[in-house]
Amino acid sequence: MPPAAHPAPAAQSAAAGNAQGTGDAQPFLKTLDEGSPIASQLASEARRRERLHGRILRKPEATRVFTVSNQKGGVGKTTTTVNIAAALASAGMQVLVIDIDPQGNASTALGIEHHSEVESIYDVLINDAPLEEVVAPCPDVENLVCAPATIHLAGAEIELVSLVAREQRLRRAIDNYAVARKEAGQPRLDYIFIDCPPSLGLLTVNAFCAASEVLIPIQCEYYALEGLSQLLKNIEMIQKHLNADLRVSTILLTMYDGRTNLAAQVAAEVREHFPEQVLEAVVPRSVRISEAPSYQQTVMTYDPTSTGALSYLEAAAEIAER
Ligand SMILES: Nc1ncnc2c1ncn2[C@@H]1O[C@H](COP(=O)(O)OP(=O)(O)O)[C@@H](O)[C@H]1O
Ligand SMILES: [Mg+2]
Repeated sequence: MPPAAHPAPAAQSAAAGNAQGTGDAQPFLKTLDEGSPIASQLASEARRRERLHGRILRKPEATRVFTVSNQKGGVGKTTTTVNIAAALASAGMQVLVIDIDPQGNASTALGIEHHSEVESIYDVLINDAPLEEVVAPCPDVENLVCAPATIHLAGAEIELVSLVAREQRLRRAIDNYAVARKEAGQPRLDYIFIDCPPSLGLLTVNAFCAASEVLIPIQCEYYALEGLSQLLKNIEMIQKHLNADLRVSTILLTMYDGRTNLAAQVAAEVREHFPEQVLEAVVPRSVRISEAPSYQQTVMTYDPTSTGALSYLEAAAEIAER
């Protein structure tokens, strides 16, 4: 392979190394040729950080409820849920994450216990337990609480079938929780994010009925758009029959690899199809983002100076301003 094929990895590792301490960015930059890829990447990150610095986010007029959905697995739903939630909470918003994926990855990333003995969203959906009984605070992020998922949720799809108002159970639980918080003198929630499993069963339908906005993370890779039309058709069905308020408000491009033409092509194609919904902010493929969950953390606390954390902060700020 010609050497020209390799400049970006070098740029990336240098940037990652430098991300350990943002304070170093300026002097390091000055020693570099301004036209080099490393220098321009660092300069652009410094500019982006400056733009975010000291920005105060407005609280929404009413609680905004997002379903984070895409029936493909591994596209960044959970990562997006926990990091956007943590970014908004760190900006002073009151945020609830509801984990309705039996795998409980969002619970893990937020450092919330979710072994089989824990009272969870399963008990809320199936046994009418109130949300306030299962919600736990995220140990690393103030203003952020989470309703965890346990493995019992795996059976919930089937158990839900025979229950009354099976599609509306999550919505009712959320409405009751808002009342309970008020009565307990707790602040109103500004944002709720529901992390969905990669399927379109009753758990996801419950999420669609409880939310008014859908956030779709799209991986900038092959087949990114495959299956999206199915997801949109399902959302249309929900709008027609169960929740007229639901809309796809937000699309976030994730796992963007700036070294490949493919990522740029996919991003351009998604922007062309959904010009209103796609956020300016793009989340790069980043080792720090993928490492964070094994430390039961979001990248916002695991490595707040990383480019991944920066991108999620930008995405969160854009969401708050819409
Ligand atoms: N921007 C990213 N860069 C690198 N790895 C990522 C990124 N976003 C997610 N991942 C990793 O990809 C995998 C799938 O992401 P996840 O958020 O769990 O997807 P989903 O919830 O859609 O199944 C996880 O191992 C996660 O850590
Ligand atoms: Mg997930």
